[in-house]
Amino acid sequence: MGEIASDGVDAGSSSSPTVVSKKPAYISGIFVKNPGVPIFLSVFLVTLFVTAAIFTRWVDVVIIPPLFHYCGDDGTYDIVFPDWSFWGWPEVNIKPWVQLSKDLEQGNLKKKWTEREPFAYWKGNTHTGKARKDLARCNPDGQHEWNARINHLDWRKGFKDTDLASQCTHRYKIYVEGNSWSVSEKYILACDSMSLVITPHYYDFFSRGLYPTVHYWPINERNKCHSIKYAVDWGNKNTEKAQEIGRAGSEFIKNELQMKYVYDYMLHLLTEYSKLFKYRPFITKNAVEVCSCLDKGMVKEFKEMSKVKGPSEASPCTMHPPYDAAELQSLLERKLNLTRQVETWEASGRV
Ligand SMILES: *[C@@H]1O[C@H](CO)[C@@H](O)[C@H](O)[C@H]1NC(C)=O
Repeated sequence: MGEIASDGVDAGSSSSPTVVSKKPAYISGIFVKNPGVPIFLSVFLVTLFVTAAIFTRWVDVVIIPPLFHYCGDDGTYDIVFPDWSFWGWPEVNIKPWVQLSKDLEQGNLKKKWTEREPFAYWKGNTHTGKARKDLARCNPDGQHEWNARINHLDWRKGFKDTDLASQCTHRYKIYVEGNSWSVSEKYILACDSMSLVITPHYYDFFSRGLYPTVHYWPINERNKCHSIKYAVDWGNKNTEKAQEIGRAGSEFIKNELQMKYVYDYMLHLLTEYSKLFKYRPFITKNAVEVCSCLDKGMVKEFKEMSKVKGPSEASPCTMHPPYDAAELQSLLERKLNLTRQVETWEASGRV
């Protein structure tokens, strides 16, 4: 994902004007006798410094090696890695994944799909990103009923009501990206509700395995409200199929995203990565361990909860061999085809 690279660019552009304005002023003081010279020189130097600043920035962007990140997109080479929330997110009261996935499974039993609200639900901060602001417009406004229920959640007002296991009360749950990928993806998919995924631009380490109309329903980002309305109408008419998609999404999360596999992914990734090293990393003599501390309160509790008590009894899973270009192309094409199929249905208006 490009967040780190673009932060670097922003920092560069805010610091360069200082460099540009100082140097020409100093030089022009030397040539006061001929006013034409300093102007010419200033223009020349300003151009030079601006060019240099742009060049350095360009070099920064080009030579930064791929970084480990929670998500990637088509414009960056970031290496996707499991996000922090698998080990719990104490600040927002979200338990480590091992525990939480069990809670979610229990939560799903509370309300059968057919008894759930026949609407598409989303709760979160609508101020992060254009897509979310857009999505907020799909709430009923007295004139339109888009079958969406969008709830703004102000993150600064505490997280007492973020109990995820009790949020699977709607037949459809919306996934929308914020400023980039959202950590909520696995929680939404785990609900047994049919997930309505608004065209994503970022992917995380398990996204490739998810197929539209198999694990989730694709929502057209350019026409969100209409698209959501159609999806809900379709699901409420084809209840068996909608439940099947909901279940397939949850099964994927439950089976493929077990903590054991998350660790296997990390192991395989780091093993392959280490093969590329041209030097042997070692811990220097004067190195100091920054922290192996448990902290206190909920942070401590979550660390204890997610601690692995012993070595794995089974060997790591076998990694799928890398896709060749043709295989990858066909996989992406299959997803695109499935999405197009839905767009055709949507355009026809028939459910
Ligand atoms: C996608 O659809 C096109 C056109 O209908 C078809 O030719 C192609 O084989 C499909 N690709 C996959 C991978 O399903």
